[in-house]
Order: sequence, then C-alpha cells, then structure tokens
Amino acid sequence: MVKRVSRSRWGRIFLSALALCMVSAALAGFGAGGNQAKAQSPQIQMSGTALGGTPGQGPLSKAAFNHKKHEDAVGGNCDACHHTGDQVACSSCHTSQGSPDGGNVQLSDAMHSATAKQSCVGCHLTQTKKPECAGCHRNIAPGPRQSNCAVCHKDAKAAQAAPVQVPAAPDTVEIGGLSKLFKPATFDHAAHIQALKDAAKGDLPKAFHSNDAALCAGCHHYTPVGQTPPKCGTCHGTDPNRPGLKAAYHIQCNQCHKAMMPGAEPVAATDCAGCHAPKK
Ligand code: HEC
Ligand code: HEC
Ligand code: HEC
Ligand code: HEC
Ligand code: HEC
Ligand code: HEC
Ligand code: HEC
Ligand code: HEC
Ligand code: HEC
Repeated sequence: MVKRVSRSRWGRIFLSALALCMVSAALAGFGAGGNQAKAQSPQIQMSGTALGGTPGQGPLSKAAFNHKKHEDAVGGNCDACHHTGDQVACSSCHTSQGSPDGGNVQLSDAMHSATAKQSCVGCHLTQTKKPECAGCHRNIAPGPRQSNCAVCHKDAKAAQAAPVQVPAAPDTVEIGGLSKLFKPATFDHAAHIQALKDAAKGDLPKAFHSNDAALCAGCHHYTPVGQTPPKCGTCHGTDPNRPGLKAAYHIQCNQCHKAMMPGAEPVAATDCAGCHAPKK
C-alpha cells in the first residue's frame, strides 16, 4: 500500500502523514460509520477511497466537511465544487491513482491543489487574497501545511501535538539598528497584533490559525509557531539571496500597508515621514 501511495506527486509528504494516519485511524475506529454523505445533512464525512479503502472505509474518509456552511459561503453555486455538474462523490472520478473519468487528477490533487479554484485548499487560498488577509498572506507559502492536516483530517487529531503557547511579545519595539539619518522607527507592536487579530475574523481563519501564535508568523517568518522570534537582522544582513535589513523592513512594512487597502489609501504610513522623524 505504501508503494502505491508513494507513486503520487504527493507521495513524499503523504508518506510521513501515512504512518500518522494509520495510527490515528486505528485509534479512531477504522471503518466505522460508512458513507452517510447527503447534501441535506450539514456535516458530512468524505466518502473517498483514501489509501485504498472501499468507499467510506478509508482512514482519511473522516475528513469532515460542513456542506451546509459551504453552500452558503459560495451563494448556493453548486458548480463551484461539483464542477462537472454531477452531484456525486468526488472520489467516483478522482481516485487515489487518478483515472480517465477524473482527467487523471488524483484524489489528493483534487482536494489539495493550491492552483485549482474547486479544490479545498485552492478555494481557501483565494479567500486569503481579501485585503484584510492579504497583508500577512502575501508572505505565506500556499498550503496545505503540516500544521493544518488535522483541521480537515479530524482523525489525525489523536496524533496532533499539544497546543502551543503564545510567546511573550513586547508592546513597542524601537527599530534603530540602522539609524543614521533618522530617529529610530518606533513600532507599535501591540497595536499591530491587535489590528491583525481583528482583521483575521471568520470561520476560516478560526479553524486554520491554531491560535494567536500562528499570527506571529505573518511577520516573523521562518520562526516555528510558538517559539520566540529573533530580530530580523539575525537573518537579514549580507546574504545575497535575501533582502538586506533595510529592504527587509521596508518591503514588509510597506507591502502589508498597501496590500490591506488596495486601490485606496493605504491602511497606514507608506510615506517616509510616517515612520521616520528627522534627527534634530
Ligand atoms: C482543507 C482541507 C484539507 C487539508 C488542510 C488537508 N487535506 Fe488531505 N484531504 C482532504 C480531503 C477532503 C480529502 C479526500 C478525503 C476522502 O475523499 O476520503 C483528502 C485526502 C487526502 C489523502 C488521500 C489521498 C488518496 O490518494 O486517497 C491524503 C494522503 C491526505 N489527504 C493527506 C493530507 C496531508 C498530509 C495534509 C497536510 C499536509 C492534508 N491532507 C491536508 C482535505 C484536506
Ligand atoms: C464548497 C464545495 C461544495 C459546494 C458549493 C457544494 N458541494 Fe455538494 N459536496 C461537496 C463535497 C466535497 C461533497 C462530498 C463528496 C465526497 O464524498 O467525495 C459533496 C457531496 C454532495 C452530495 C452527496 C454526493 C454523494 O453521492 O456522496 C450531494 C447530493 C451534493 N453534494 C449536492 C450539492 C448541491 C445540490 C449543492 C448546491 C446547493 C452543493 N452540493 C454544493 C462540495 C460542495
Ligand atoms: C464526473 C467526474 C468528476 C467528478 C464527480 C468530479 N470531477 Fe474533478 N475533474 C474531472 C475531470 C475530467 C477533470 C480534468 C478536466 C477538468 O479540469 O475539468 C477534473 C479536474 C479537477 C481538478 C483539477 C482542476 C485544475 O484546474 O487543475 C480539481 C481540483 C477537481 N477536479 C476537484 C473536484 C472536486 C473537489 C470534486 C467533488 C466536489 C470533483 N472534482 C468531482 C472529473 C470529475
Ligand atoms: C469554493 C470555495 C471553497 C471550497 C471548494 C472549499 N471551501 Fe472550505 N470554506 C470556504 C469558505 C468561504 C469558508 C468560510 C465559511 C464561513 O466563514 O462561514 C470555508 C470554511 C471551511 C472550514 C472552517 C469552517 C468549518 O466548517 O468548520 C473548514 C474546516 C473547511 N472549509 C474545509 C473544507 C474542505 C475539507 C473542503 C474540500 C472538501 C473545502 N473546505 C472546500 C470555501 C471553500
Ligand atoms: C497576522 C497575519 C495573518 C492574517 C491577518 C491572516 N492570516 Fe491566515 N495565516 C497566517 C499564518 C502565519 C498562517 C500559517 C499558520 C501555520 O503555519 O500554522 C495562516 C494560515 C491560514 C490558512 C491555512 C492555509 C493553509 O495553506 O493551510 C487559512 C485558510 C487562512 N490562514 C485564512 C485566513 C483568512 C481567510 C484571513 C483573513 C480573514 C487570514 N487568514 C488572515 C497569518 C495570518
Ligand atoms: C512603514 C514604515 C516605513 C516607511 C513608510 C519608510 N520607512 Fe525607512 N525604515 C523603516 C524601518 C522600520 C527602518 C529600520 C530603522 C532603523 O533600523 O533605524 C527603516 C530604515 C530606513 C533607513 C536606514 C536608517 C537610517 O537612518 O539611515 C533609511 C535611509 C530609510 N529608512 C529611508 C526611508 C525613505 C527615504 C522612505 C520614504 C521613501 C522610508 N524610509 C519609508 C520603516 C519605514
Ligand atoms: C506586524 C508584524 C508583526 C507581528 C504580527 C508580530 N511581530 Fe513581533 N516584531 C515585529 C518587528 C518588525 C519586530 C522588530 C524586529 C527587529 O528589531 O528586528 C518585532 C520584535 C519582536 C520581539 C523582540 C525581538 C528582539 O529580540 O528584540 C519579540 C519577542 C516579538 N516580536 C514577538 C512577537 C510575538 C510573540 C508575536 C505574536 C503574538 C509577534 N511578535 C507578532 C513585527 C511583528
Ligand atoms: C530565521 C531567518 C529569518 C528571520 C528571523 C527573518 N527572515 Fe525574512 N527572509 C528569510 C529568508 C530565508 C528569506 C528569503 C526567502 C524568501 O523570500 O522567503 C527572507 C525573505 C524576506 C523578504 C522578501 C520576501 C518577501 O516577503 O517579500 C522580506 C521582505 C523579509 N524577509 C522581511 C523580514 C522581516 C521584516 C523580518 C523580521 C520581522 C524577517 N524577515 C525575519 C529569513 C528570515
Ligand atoms: C502584516 C501587516 C503589517 C505589517 C507587516 C506592518 N504593519 Fe503597520 N499597520 C498595519 C495595520 C493593519 C495598521 C493599522 C492599525 C490600526 O488601524 O490600528 C498599521 C498601522 C501602522 C502605523 C500607524 C499607526 C500606529 O500603530 O502607529 C505605523 C506608523 C506603522 N503601521 C508602522 C509600521 C512599521 C514601521 C512596520 C514595519 C516594521 C509595519 N508597520 C509593518 C499592518 C502592518
């Protein structure tokens, strides 16, 4: 079975999840339930033949999906997902291996493709292009991410790590390491965290941002969620493959201010004086 899965494009990433899923599937009562999928029932279990099980029996068939909520979210447009017009299980055409009926698109790609608007991950990604989300998300590689498998694959929960603590954060930060021409830029850290927390409202971020610690990574990238981040200058200096320190600040500050208010006035300072008071 492992050999079969490893052939898929997702093979490598899934292999590691496979062990996890097999363990948790055993814990969750492998195969219990069966295919109860009905458009009418709000919370349905995916009916897929995930990893070779018969429909409704596979370890990943416990990917929970709130059908009613999703119908509302797309304004009742059934074809947004049932893209062939057939309101049947996706796995009837998209098998694990891929079949001609499904245009040889494997089940995993049908669900996780970041570039297709009808896949779970692809449609969620389009949601993150909204201005209130884009400030951070312009910076975040498209998923799915290891930290989020269990949001959809509920039975992976048993093996999920304990929730992370939100590290302590300073209220204000004086960014002054480069100061020659200007006074240090005072950065209202607490106000930023609050404003971004307010921006990230709704069921989608609630489900996928494990907690506030996940939000820190919107700016402190390359720091694992839950760890205290280092200064930007730890990584941004002379490495030619990344922006230098001044550019790192400027790009991140300004791009977010712009992305959160496209076409209109930026959400906040993008003019020099907005962040830099001249030295007396
Ligand atoms: C947005 C929701 C979502 C996320 C996030 C997600 N998945 Fe899935 N995945 C699904 C759905 C839905 C299915 C289809 C389940 C079915 O039909 O039984 C699926 C199917 C699979 C399959 C089976 C594919 C096959 O060939 O049978 C594997 C393996 C898998 N996911 C692994 C992962 C891993 C690993 C992650 C995290 C990196 C992940 N998934 C994240 C929704 C998701
Ligand atoms: C956001 C995506 C989405 C939208 C919008 C959507 N569906 Fe679905 N629907 C699904 C998924 C995913 C399944 C589960 C398929 C599976 O088990 O592989 C499903 C299952 C179903 C099933 C049960 C199929 C079966 O045989 O297991 C029916 C019937 C259905 N949908 C009808 C509808 C109708 C009618 C609408 C519009 C009012 C609609 N759906 C809108 C994604 C969607
Ligand atoms: C009747 C067969 C059939 C059913 C049922 C079906 N698909 Fe497809 N799907 C196809 C075919 C054929 C293609 C390839 C041609 C195309 O893109 O339309 C495809 C392609 C896709 C792609 C890739 C599109 C791209 O642009 O790369 C995704 C994602 C996808 N399907 C998701 C789903 C989801 C989610 C469901 C269930 C809600 C579903 N499909 C149900 C036949 C089907
Ligand atoms: C066409 C767009 C679209 C597709 C396709 C889609 N989603 Fe969603 N999803 C949304 C939107 C929009 C929301 C936020 C709904 C709200 O705020 O009420 C959402 C919310 C969610 C949530 C959090 C709310 C909840 O239900 O607990 C989960 C989990 C989720 N989706 C899983 C899935 C899975 C699994 C699939 C694939 C089978 C999928 N989604 C496919 C648009 C989509
Ligand atoms: C403060 C920054 C920030 C804001 C604002 C924000 N996000 Fe996120 N979001 C993140 C980070 C960081 C992650 C990755 C978390 C992780 O690795 O666990 C993430 C992950 C996600 C994911 C899962 C992506 C995947 O590929 O698995 C979804 C869906 C999501 N966010 C939706 C939203 C939506 C919708 C909004 C706006 C309403 C929003 N986010 C606003 C920082 C943010
Ligand atoms: C959104 C806030 C923001 C805006 C707008 C901004 N900067 Fe900066 N800038 C910073 C931060 C933060 C630093 C790092 C501060 C430090 O280390 O002294 C910085 C550093 C600098 C430095 C190096 C420090 C020094 O004193 O020599 C120069 C020069 C600079 N900015 C010029 C500009 C100019 C010119 C503009 C307008 C085109 C501008 N900045 C707009 C935030 C901003
Ligand atoms: C809007 C972007 C943004 C968000 C969101 C954010 N930070 Fe920061 N944080 C910064 C910047 C910029 C600095 C200054 C870094 C420097 O001096 O190079 C900083 C500095 C810090 C420092 C001090 C580092 C040092 O050694 O001086 C800590 C600790 C910190 N942040 C923790 C957090 C935590 C925890 C969260 C989430 C609750 C968070 N931050 C969210 C942008 C952000
Ligand atoms: C642990 C190392 C590390 C730390 C700490 C770090 N970065 Fe980066 N950063 C990188 C790497 C690696 C890249 C190049 C790869 C890429 O583009 O993502 C990068 C790229 C960037 C880019 C260019 C890509 C883009 O988003 O436009 C910006 C801007 C940036 N960093 C800003 C910052 C800021 C601001 C901080 C502090 C809040 C910071 N970085 C902290 C490692 C780091
Ligand atoms: C991820 C998005 C994001 C990033 C990155 C970001 N900002 Fe902001 N910033 C905001 C938002 C949103 C507001 C509006 C806050 C409000 O309405 O309370 C804001 C407001 C401001 C303001 C005016 C109000 C205040 O809080 O002082 C200044 C000045 C500012 N930012 C400076 C910076 C500097 C300097 C940086 C880079 C070190 C930065 N910002 C990075 C989102 C961001």
